[in-house]
Amino acid sequence: MRKLLRGRVLSFNRPPEDIEDMDALTYLEDGAVVIDAGLIAQIGSYDALKGTAPEIDHRPHLIMPGFIDPHLHFPQAQVIGSYAAELLDWLNDHTFPEEMRFDDPDHAARIAKAFFDQLLSHGTTTAMAFCTSSPVSVNAYFAQAQRRSMRMLGGKTMMDRNAPEGLCDTAQSGYDDSKALIETWNGLDRLNYAITPRFAITSTPAQLEAAGALLAEFPDMHMQTHLSENRAEIELTAELFPNARDYLDVYDRYGLLGPKSFMGHAIHLSARERALMAETGTVAVHCPTSNLFLGSGLFDLFGLEEAGVRTAVATDIGGGTSWSMLRTLGEAYKIQQLRHARLNPLKSFYWATRGNADALGMTAQIGTLEAGTEADIVVLDAGATPAMALRMERVRTLPQELFVLQTMGDDRSVVKTYVAGEDSSATA
Ligand code: GUN
Ligand code: ZN
Repeated sequence: MRKLLRGRVLSFNRPPEDIEDMDALTYLEDGAVVIDAGLIAQIGSYDALKGTAPEIDHRPHLIMPGFIDPHLHFPQAQVIGSYAAELLDWLNDHTFPEEMRFDDPDHAARIAKAFFDQLLSHGTTTAMAFCTSSPVSVNAYFAQAQRRSMRMLGGKTMMDRNAPEGLCDTAQSGYDDSKALIETWNGLDRLNYAITPRFAITSTPAQLEAAGALLAEFPDMHMQTHLSENRAEIELTAELFPNARDYLDVYDRYGLLGPKSFMGHAIHLSARERALMAETGTVAVHCPTSNLFLGSGLFDLFGLEEAGVRTAVATDIGGGTSWSMLRTLGEAYKIQQLRHARLNPLKSFYWATRGNADALGMTAQIGTLEAGTEADIVVLDAGATPAMALRMERVRTLPQELFVLQTMGDDRSVVKTYVAGEDSSATA
């Protein structure tokens, strides 16, 4: 059960201030991580820890905390790369019809297995996902997560209007089904339920009120939705909620803001909305591959940070086009380039690990390699392809290597993923 992983060990201690801020991280060139009973028992130099447990030698690869993906859609695995003009067409033409399939337990179970296979082969060990409006999808999702001993969050999508009838719940059934699912799954093993109203357009005021009531009943629970992704979406929201001051005000009115509330996209925000997000601790989740694919806009990372808004970074499968958090960071970099700003690789790797864990309020469990935390670990090879190996001949520093990983890497760079200390390919 006890084991020692040897390799180049990397974990973040705090947000790096710039690309030279090596004090923000722990990096051990010949390092060791000792795992016992699913937890990290010790981290240190190999010399200091050798002989304390049976060894697995991952040299010369990087040993890091597993990636965290705090916004994606379990039922959209087969939607990735669907041709559509923009968000609302993409939802109506491709996504809603696909989500209708998840009433079928066999289909839901098959896609759940594929979903977790994809997460793990891309080095992602925790995610927070939207399921569909059908409890069948939520049961399939959590059952598969539990089977693999993963720390996962998710919830039943609440949606009672502006979608096909077969996909709509009601304010009452959305509340009742969510509550029953919370009672079944929340807190079981490593699973956490997240209250999940899809977005303002697909919920009536009565349903948002029900979501707010749930959150008031379970104040420690996460809440996930979408905010200001696209101009047409914002206009329609304003028509549907004529009394709201702005998009964020819709959620605020129903008590849906707070430090465990995750707003997917959050691209087109007013100064008032930014200030309110900062004041309430509400998290803006950047989904770069999705924003580029759907032409939604360029996330204002540094403007939001300056306003004091907490942020996270995620794939948004299947508006997003890659399961890989490496590809996601690579595209996040390009979005900042288009804004004439620069996201340095120390900051981006912090973001995908400790940063996302901090946004979730889970750094005591995940996101670092600190002793006492859960042993969810990814092993990365920056020279995984011939093109990467060629490029790596010129790399001299850790920030350069991380930048190559996020610019050229994907699942081919993932050598191994450990979940609660076990090789995840053994539990697939
Ligand atoms: N807004 C409401 N639902 C969705 C969704 O499934 N994907 C994205 N990208 N935006 C949404
Ligand atoms: Zn989304």
